[in-house]
Amino acid sequence: MKILITGGAGFIGSHVVRLFVKKYPNYQIVNLDALTYAGNLENVKDIEDQNNYSFVKGDITDEDFVNSLFQKYQFDGVIHLAAESHVDRSIKDPFSFARTNIIGTMVLLNEFKELWKDNWEGKRFYHVSTDEVYGSLGESGFFLETTPYSPNSPYSASKASSDHFVRAYGETYGMPFTISNCSNNYGPNHFPEKLIPLFINNIINKKPLPVYGDGNYTRDWLYVIDHARAIDLIFHKGRNMETYNVGGFNEWKNIDLVKLLCGLMDVKLGRNNGESEKLITYVKDRPGHDLRYAIDASKLNEELGWRPSVTFEEGLSKTIEWYSENQEWLSQVTSGAYQKYYQEHYQ
Ligand code: NAD
Ligand code: DAU
Repeated sequence: MKILITGGAGFIGSHVVRLFVKKYPNYQIVNLDALTYAGNLENVKDIEDQNNYSFVKGDITDEDFVNSLFQKYQFDGVIHLAAESHVDRSIKDPFSFARTNIIGTMVLLNEFKELWKDNWEGKRFYHVSTDEVYGSLGESGFFLETTPYSPNSPYSASKASSDHFVRAYGETYGMPFTISNCSNNYGPNHFPEKLIPLFINNIINKKPLPVYGDGNYTRDWLYVIDHARAIDLIFHKGRNMETYNVGGFNEWKNIDLVKLLCGLMDVKLGRNNGESEKLITYVKDRPGHDLRYAIDASKLNEELGWRPSVTFEEGLSKTIEWYSENQEWLSQVTSGAYQKYYQEHYQ
């Protein structure tokens, strides 16, 4: 198979690319990434010389470029992860989210359709999406695959829109597709604008830990490698034209998670118990902040036998270990444009 993986220099994409390159030596894997602030070839350095792997720098919104790539490789499958992914950035700049997440997805869909519309046999477009399309839960209940879409941020609205286009290409042109909607990921190579890596970095540097609002917002955390395992399963064995929810069965209120992280970091850094917690600073809330996400992943479990392979304690320890051992990666990605973003956002 020739497979295009988009966004493979980003956080989740790099783990998906690595899994596919290592597990499927007979596949040809092309990683297409624009290398925005979130894309980093260091994330896939260990596999860059593999025979079944190549990297192409390019923008998924560039129709001519995407067309020439599809003509050249005649991809049998697309696993689409490239996106603008940070909610706070989407509040400041919604248009770039619409461009990449909606238009970029459409460009890929359209090229795939033009290539295979006369014979879809053995082809698949896999769209990687988010649980945020479902909006916010109250204190109880779970997101199911049948939960109506109700996105609240420009980011989730753009992802919801892209999900609809994928489904529409399936219904209208007969394109074989799968979609997965996953909860919050964490793990190595996570860009330090998101809660867990940002707070690990700030604890290391004894900087304030900016908790939005009262900190009583809940997220369902999944180790990134378990998400990559789910993507592999769904791509190969998921039923056509189906959506699968992926989640960690692992809900945490932000403030409880931050305190747990502080405790683990104190041990790791040899600091006094309670030292890092003193860095917690309550700041202005995120506009439109969703109260709670929680995934019911039983469809994926029952149909394909997937379950997370690591506990949260194991995953968080591995993550802390990775950031401690990769300070150079951290300082590389937190220089330059990141500093400007951080200062503007957190003032
Ligand atoms: P990320 O921001 O770390 O990586 C996104 C990658 O896409 C980067 O490498 C970036 O350079 C690339 N990219 C951005 N715009 C592009 C463009 N126009 N053309 C080509 N490449 C472009 O994101 P992530 O956290 O790894 O998320 C990957 C996907 O998974 C996204 O679609 C996101 O919506 C989805 N998702 C993320 C999470 C999460 O917790 N991070 C959870 C569920 C779903
Ligand atoms: O649910 C899946 C989504 O998870 C993905 O689709 C997104 O791409 C990904 O970024 C993530 O979105 P969140 O908004 O949930 O993640 P973030 O790490 O930005 O925030 C997690 C929680 O922590 C959220 O309630 C906001 C809060 N937070 C975040 C930051 C960056 C803070 O309190 N302070 C912060 O500085």
